[in-house]
Parts: sequence; structure tokens; C-alpha cells
Amino acid sequence: MSDSDRPKAQAPTFRGGRPEPRAGDRRTGKDRRATSIPAAKTPTPERRTAERRRGTDRRSEKGWQPVSIEVTTAEGLNQEATLLAVATDARTRAHAQYSNFQVGAALETADGRIIGGCNIENATYGLTLCAERVALVKALSDGEAVFTRIAVVADTESPTPPCGPCRQLLWEYCGDIDIILGNLNGPTGRFRLSALLPLPFDRRLLG
Ligand code: THU
Repeated sequence: MSDSDRPKAQAPTFRGGRPEPRAGDRRTGKDRRATSIPAAKTPTPERRTAERRRGTDRRSEKGWQPVSIEVTTAEGLNQEATLLAVATDARTRAHAQYSNFQVGAALETADGRIIGGCNIENATYGLTLCAERVALVKALSDGEAVFTRIAVVADTESPTPPCGPCRQLLWEYCGDIDIILGNLNGPTGRFRLSALLPLPFDRRLLG
């Protein structure tokens, strides 16, 4: 896709359907290419996916429930493995000279592009950039606007979840995306962002 074809970054809007636990990863290559949006009144999984792809999301819904994610199909697992592989590769470029804690991230756009990022530390410590934020700002500055998943990889046995500020920024720019956590051996956890940031502050509260 050329730069001029790519959707320009825009503020997310807040509408969408009622969330339901998802049985599997629906973002197949075919899904990504789908252009028609079912007009059902009760949102179908396909309609919700299409809305998210268009930049709408589920943050305004009443009574949503955080859900854990199951990836059951071979294709879903394959796509997840690709995302984790990009994050693992990005991690090798981490500048983690102070903490020695290398992290890689891979952010997936709705049209299937994957943007990697690694943590970048600084002698002031406080100016450290997390891998997730690096991937996010790279994607936004490229004009990407609609995101579906982010993978985060660290060399830890238990999952390394995004820090609080990263959760806030992901919420702002990505909405309720899937978070795939992993280590060098594969996935260690799958969450929806709303499960990690259950009572978010966002623009709806600004009146
Ligand atoms: N870090 C990330 O890049 N992402 C996370 O999800 C957790 C923490 C980085 C920041 C810092 O460079 C190092 O890990 C130790 O906190």
C-alpha cells in the first residue's frame, strides 16, 4: 500500500456493538479484505470486527465485560506466531543498557501490516521509551490509524504486560485491542486491553 492510499490517522470515535467472548481469532486474511458490513441490529462478530477496522470501537458500550482471548484455529495461531516473531525480532534491537530488560513489540494494523518496536532507554532513566510506545508512534507517524492487536515479548517465564502509561496510550489510539504476551518460547498470555485497563480515563470524560 502506498502512503497516499493508507488511511490517515484520525481520532477514534466511540460507537460499536455489545461485546461477546470470542471463540477464536477472526482476523483472517479474508476478513481483512472484507468490505461489506452486515446491517444486523444486534451486532454480529463480523460487524464488530468491521467497525473496529473502520476506526470505531467498543469503548462507549454499556456493560462490557473484559474477556480473555482464545485462539483456536490453525490460521489464528499462525497469525499470532507471526506477530510474536516480529516482536521477538524487534526485541533484539532493544537499547536496554540500564535495566538489561529487553522488550519487543509488534503492532498489527487492520489491513494486516505489522510494525515492530523495542524499548529504548536513556541515562536519565525517565526518558525511557517502552517497546509498545515505540511501535505505536512508528505506526501513527506512518499514517496508520486502525489497529487490531499488539504482541509484547520479553525473556520472562510469566507474561510481561504493558505498563500503565502504555495501556493508556494504546487505549487512546488503538481502542480495545487484543494484547498477546509472549516470551522466547511462545505465547504466555492473551488479554483484551479493557481487561488490563478496566476503568479508563479517556476523551468521553472531557465533556
Ligand atoms: N518495558 C517495555 O518496553 N515494555 C513493557 O511492557 C514493560 C517494560 C521496558 C521499559 C524499560 O526499558 C525496561 O523494560 C525495564 O522496565
